[in-house]
Amino acid sequence: MNRRYRKTIIAGNWKMNKTASETKQFADELKTILPRAKWCDVLVCVPSVNIPAALRAFKDMRVTVGAENVFYEKNGAYTGEVSADMLKDLGVKYVIIGHSERRQYFGETDITVNKKVHAALEAGLHPIVCVGESLEQRELGVTMDLISLQVKSALAGVSAEKLRKCVIAYEPVWAIGTGRTATPEQAGEVCTFIRATIRHMYGARIARSITIQYGGSMNPGNAAELLAQPDIDGGLIGGAALKPDQFVAIINAANQE
Ligand code: 13P
Repeated sequence: MNRRYRKTIIAGNWKMNKTASETKQFADELKTILPRAKWCDVLVCVPSVNIPAALRAFKDMRVTVGAENVFYEKNGAYTGEVSADMLKDLGVKYVIIGHSERRQYFGETDITVNKKVHAALEAGLHPIVCVGESLEQRELGVTMDLISLQVKSALAGVSAEKLRKCVIAYEPVWAIGTGRTATPEQAGEVCTFIRATIRHMYGARIARSITIQYGGSMNPGNAAELLAQPDIDGGLIGGAALKPDQFVAIINAANQE
């Protein structure tokens, strides 16, 4: 982390978990244990149908509500999809784009990710752009090539001014939901590489100010070490973010120099 230049963001990605009532339960429990965390922003990304419930439940807490996905068209005959304007109008601030599960199960590509990033930015949302390699790609030694391609494609056509609204999340696919975390060095190395890629594209000042999160089996036991890496500015957390005590333990782990 480097709080002097950029925000630290601890974010939950609930994926397809929790009903609206369970969302309220989570918020009630969290409220009793959430520290006044001045050292980081706290974000909870929830299933789209639960966004109104989450906005109500987290209203008086320092917790921002985000979405897990968005469609890139403004409106029209796209049954089942949700537009960026719809999210913005509800009061959503952040939206996860290009999560590996969406790439893997729902056919998202670098091209659709780029379209979604533009749609989100146009609506005034903050995209959290996910990138990450599979185990096969890591073993083939092409991790950095892939990450570079994913970052450059996702941000193609995004102005420097708009980039300030973006967050990048490095999520190695092999570490997601597997209990197998990247070592702090492995995660730190890729996050440093992502920042260098942004530096080449946008210059040093902007690269220095962009928040880069790590995601993939982050938990109370490994969060401090991961967050101690200079280029890891927070976490995008799946499983451990579903339990208020574990989520708070990770928020507390971000309270370091
Ligand atoms: P886990 O923390 O469950 O590995 O999930 C990480 C993730 O995919 C966050 O977006």
